Amino acid sequence: MTAFPKSSALMQRATDFLGSEYAILCGAMSWVSERNLVAAISNGGGFGVIACGAMTPELLDAEIAGTKTLTDKPFGVNLITMHPMLFDLIDVCAKHGIGHVVLAGGIPPKGSVEAIKAFGAKVLVFAPTLALAKKLLRSGADALVIEGMEAGGHIGPVATSVLAQEFLPSLKEDHLVFVAGGIGRGEAIAGYLEMGAAGVQLGTRFACASESIAHPAFKQAFFRANAREAIASVQVDPRLPVIPVRALKNKGTEEFTAKQREVAQMLDDGKVDMAAAQLEIEHFWAGALRRAVIDGDVESGSIMAGQSVGMVKEEEPAAQIIQSLMQECEAALGRRERIEE
Ligand SMILES: Cc1cc2nc3c(=O)[nH]c(=O)nc-3n(C[C@H](O)[C@H](O)[C@H](O)COP(=O)(O)O)c2cc1C
Repeated sequence: MTAFPKSSALMQRATDFLGSEYAILCGAMSWVSERNLVAAISNGGGFGVIACGAMTPELLDAEIAGTKTLTDKPFGVNLITMHPMLFDLIDVCAKHGIGHVVLAGGIPPKGSVEAIKAFGAKVLVFAPTLALAKKLLRSGADALVIEGMEAGGHIGPVATSVLAQEFLPSLKEDHLVFVAGGIGRGEAIAGYLEMGAAGVQLGTRFACASESIAHPAFKQAFFRANAREAIASVQVDPRLPVIPVRALKNKGTEEFTAKQREVAQMLDDGKVDMAAAQLEIEHFWAGALRRAVIDGDVESGSIMAGQSVGMVKEEEPAAQIIQSLMQECEAALGRRERIEE
């Protein structure tokens, strides 16, 4: 008998699919979602996901093996679609019998979904529009993650609440949809489950769990920050595209704006060509997340965080965070039932 009967009933489809106790995914966070956090999430009843990021196949191999020494619960692997060795990374997942692969960062390249399904794993994909979601689900994806602009890291332009209203009514009957972005408490989980979500994905809320290897300075920055400090990167010049990333405001944010102005001026003066100028902007943040998470450089590093960062106040074990979320979710569903009586 579960301690959270109402929540568990609404989460049943996703927990059957994931093999976890609760339908709470910890979204992959580059540098943060390594063996320790991933295992802690899965041991705590959630579903941990390794962030492969720019890892080589050898590093991913070691990370999966390391995670397996820390948990015997299921966990997934998140692969970035534009990784030049995507198919080798898929082979590594196959070798380890990984049950769930999340394809992030763009439309899955031809053959990738098939290659994952060929070794029996389930594929989760992101989709920015309903039309694309339907197409991906038709062509073999097993589940969908919709992620709103409240989230930390790379973001789209639409809020989670709007995406949920747009996607869930037409997909909830036949498909598994996980809602991500801006979820900090269980009341919000209850709301999305009632709207037809199969489960949820959180990142920011878990980034500073006790088991997270993020640098103490990174964690302190999270504990101090409030929602309005988690801002999306701003594009200064339409000629120099900037992929929006939500992170805590710091010196690096200001320098990035200055850099864009400087490069735009160099373009105007004919000192650089367009390709070189765009590359300079693209490369500005290279290695910046690692600098913040691993080295603790919270001045010039990228402290990726979602708007729910204001609800992260202290280090807590991942299992405790999951229990709090479940308690809040169950209590919210219980209050609704009393209203109905
Ligand atoms: C520090 C950080 C790093 C992230 N890195 C990745 C990543 O490498 N791949 C990915 O698909 N999502 C990444 N994300 C997004 C998370 O997986 C998750 O979807 C998101 O954090 C959910 O929204 P929330 O932050 O509002 O909870 C990252 C998020 C954060 C906060």
